[in-house]
Amino acid sequence: MRNMETMRWVDGYLEILDQTLLPEKTEYIKCEHYTTVCDAIRRLNVRGAPAIGAAAAYGLALGAAMLKPAGRADFIVAVEQIARDLSATRPTAVNLQWALDRMLGVLRCTGFDNIGVLKEILLSEAHAIYREDLESNRRMGQFGEKLIPQSVAILTHCNAGALATAGIGTALGVIRAAHQAGKSIHVYADETRPLLQGARLTTWELMQDKIPVTLLTDNMAGYLMACGKVDLVIVGADRIAANGDVANKIGTYSVAVLAKEHGLPFYVAAPVSTIDLSIAGGQEIPIENRDEREVTHFAGQQVAPEGVRVWNPAFDVTPNHLVTAIITDRGIAWPPYTETLLVVAGK
Ligand code: MRU
Repeated sequence: MRNMETMRWVDGYLEILDQTLLPEKTEYIKCEHYTTVCDAIRRLNVRGAPAIGAAAAYGLALGAAMLKPAGRADFIVAVEQIARDLSATRPTAVNLQWALDRMLGVLRCTGFDNIGVLKEILLSEAHAIYREDLESNRRMGQFGEKLIPQSVAILTHCNAGALATAGIGTALGVIRAAHQAGKSIHVYADETRPLLQGARLTTWELMQDKIPVTLLTDNMAGYLMACGKVDLVIVGADRIAANGDVANKIGTYSVAVLAKEHGLPFYVAAPVSTIDLSIAGGQEIPIENRDEREVTHFAGQQVAPEGVRVWNPAFDVTPNHLVTAIITDRGIAWPPYTETLLVVAGK
């Protein structure tokens, strides 16, 4: 799967794999301007919390490269504006703001005045964010794999795989690590309405890696569990509050409630950059609302009456008491999360 890069830096430009075309077509969008990166994030050409963080970092480097400021102070002001534009694209995944803050922090801290050097520093920080995510996925896989039994059926929701990151993925990274360790794994993938990240992306990724996968629609998850066909759930996250409440793709909360009812472990896999210690609980996490056409239309075809009212939140919040453990790149956090998330976050 890693021969298909989520994004790549080629000859001074960012190329983004257009995930809206998958699995039928694999095409890259050439981003010569940071506004193209903003559009790509907004339209979900690139998606998944760590991937949009890395894309935003490259977007900032790209925008900065085109600036012709009078001096260092002007440069920083202009770069901060570009960061605000990139940040405004999607509100829920904190990795986006985390990556931009890291880029701005490096820029503000460096003592250099030469604009060319400052531009190079920004680009190398973007490369570092991308590279580190790859390593972070590997570590999450190593930690999480230990929680996976020798023979197991796993339900996942949305796509928290290679396509959502720079590496092997978060939830799917744990699954890949367990598969590599010789465990017998069968994955059940929720299709993930309305945009079908599970049907289009998760199944595609796993089939390429020859990991057995079965697709189901979201409303089948309860019956799947009732039939005893699944042993545990693993999902990714877009933002984790200090108390362990988890924002992830809409529908995750329903799966967590079902897992509780059926006595199944519900694991969340996410890098430490997804933990937002500035937010006490899930009620403070901003939830993105998306275009109603995503619900009224299916594959370009209208499936609901013209003018119907639509509710289309892209994420929901799973309360911490439904989360069995949080697998991070710095170890596994168990309840009580107010204490253990501080430890994994190094605070
Ligand atoms: O709207 P999306 O496709 O960006 O939503 C993605 C998810 O909800 C993922 O589960 C989450 O970002 C974790 S990706 C490692």
